[in-house]
Amino acid sequence: MLSDKLLKGLNEQMNYEFYSAHAYMAMAAYCSSESLDGFANFFLVQAEEERFHAMKFYNFINAMGERATIAGFDCPNNDFTSVLDVFEKALGQEKEVTKRIYQLSDVAWDEREHATINFLKWFIDEQVEEEDMFDSIIQKLKRIDNDSNAFFMLDNEFSKRSFSPESE
Ligand code: FEO
Repeated sequence: MLSDKLLKGLNEQMNYEFYSAHAYMAMAAYCSSESLDGFANFFLVQAEEERFHAMKFYNFINAMGERATIAGFDCPNNDFTSVLDVFEKALGQEKEVTKRIYQLSDVAWDEREHATINFLKWFIDEQVEEEDMFDSIIQKLKRIDNDSNAFFMLDNEFSKRSFSPESE
């Protein structure tokens, strides 16, 4: 049994993870439109990861004997000026997720709701990895600058990215 406040927060985060998937689909679409299929694949995989995250919330809410509530969400940003801009916006997206997970975790701690505290720990660790990943790609892109060979090598590297729930 969860408090109304915690259940509301868990449902909001589940829906925000679905929204994140949507935001990454918009980033994939921009990369596809620029014929950067590797970068597009990177964001399609990222969107899959976000749906996986959302389903972790869905399953947890169910396991706690509560009901998941599916909500709509705002239109994600579709305006990008470059691949660097896409990754900087992606990092901003992840920072927002981290902030929300921390706030939710604070509620769980206030209520001494240990199952939820334990559940959210996975997301706290995941956010460290996600922010680090986006930050290091941004650094790489800045270093590459106008080196088109290095840029297309990165595009090729990202074409191999795949999603595996087991590695999550
Ligand atoms: Fe589900 Fe990328 O945070």
